[in-house]
Amino acid sequence: MAGRGRIEGGAAAAGRAGGPLRVAVLGAGTVGREVVGALIEGWSPEGSGRPLALAGVAVRDLAKAEAAGIPAGLLTDAPAHLLAEGADIVVELMGGEEPARTLIAAALGAGIPVVTANKYVVARHGAELEAIARRTQAPFRFEAAVMGGTPILRLLADDLAGTRVTAVRGIVNGTTNHILTEMATGGLTYEAALAGAQAAGYAEADPTGDVEGGDAADKLVILARLAFGTWLDRSAVTVARPGGRPGITGVSADDLAAAAARGSAIRLLASATRDAVTASMDASVLPTEVPRDSPLGGTNGVRNRIEIESDRLGWIGVEGPGAGGAATAAAVLADRAAIAAGGGSTWGVLPPATAAAGRPVEAGAR
Ligand code: NAP
Ligand code: HSE
Repeated sequence: MAGRGRIEGGAAAAGRAGGPLRVAVLGAGTVGREVVGALIEGWSPEGSGRPLALAGVAVRDLAKAEAAGIPAGLLTDAPAHLLAEGADIVVELMGGEEPARTLIAAALGAGIPVVTANKYVVARHGAELEAIARRTQAPFRFEAAVMGGTPILRLLADDLAGTRVTAVRGIVNGTTNHILTEMATGGLTYEAALAGAQAAGYAEADPTGDVEGGDAADKLVILARLAFGTWLDRSAVTVARPGGRPGITGVSADDLAAAAARGSAIRLLASATRDAVTASMDASVLPTEVPRDSPLGGTNGVRNRIEIESDRLGWIGVEGPGAGGAATAAAVLADRAAIAAGGGSTWGVLPPATAAAGRPVEAGAR
């Protein structure tokens, strides 16, 4: 294999009939470490089909990964070569746009199932990746991209398939919710609260996307795909009020105290609606005052909450941990188990997304 590190075993075992499904894990940071650790321990859900085995783990810094407990024999710094050696499932947990997008597209194009937590890539390249996955029939699963380990995407795709969703709103970024909570109730400064979110593994490698609302906007694009049947143009999501600063970067301790005095809390609210008549969509991520004693106002710290409005159910809500290695690994492991058991893509029974990102979804489409 090119690149440094040595993968023991090699490609020959990949896909052997009746043998374990070989999983290539790209990235072993906050989330990847948990996933790799579970696989090394032999974690496998009961009744989930073929057993799983690690084909290898790609990182940039081999020594750091080894020091974190990943056996040297599993490590490489050449993710493309790891895939070329052969894998039955690819788990992408590197983050960022490239090389993640290219590696995911290549694996799906070769018919290899992919699990990812990478909302940045899915929000920008979801239409292309869905088209590839549908062409090769390779399952593409990204439950971990929204709400960490708390299930929401399959709920939209499968369990709500008998409804027409008209609105999705909620708290979808754990870092900013942690910051707002700690500033309002813990007396922490913005800087100290952000540092706490980074230390806990909630923030992205570059937390700009968290605090400026970009990460929440990525998640909203993914939610809208499953709720409304189309891939929104990511740049169509509003992340600042006219003249205002993006995300929570303009929210001060004084703003939070004033809201508290009014019985309110400030939350970074992601919201997407579809007009029942024109089918046009609005999508925004904005700091919003909500009653302190409402479900959204009471959603604190790293917890996320998403509320969904549909014609037959009215409003329903889902709440749970939205970030962190262990929580997010739960969704990755579940996706991987679903693939081992023969499951399909995250969009489940939904029809192919309407083609044009940003254009209104066809009336009646879902
Ligand atoms: P992270 O801690 O920064 O880890 C990234 C890992 O990928 C590291 O092992 C890094 O290696 C490796 N990597 C990055 N670029 C690489 C490259 N070009 N080649 C080989 N290895 C590369 O990130 P994370 O927090 O685990 O997040 C991973 C993904 O999950 C991201 O897409 C993120 O948005 C998503 N996610 C994270 C959370 C969370 O709570 N953290 C929750 C939901 C979704 P080195 O360390 O050697 O550089
Ligand atoms: N940085 C993200 C957050 C990770 O804080 O919500 C989970 O997607």
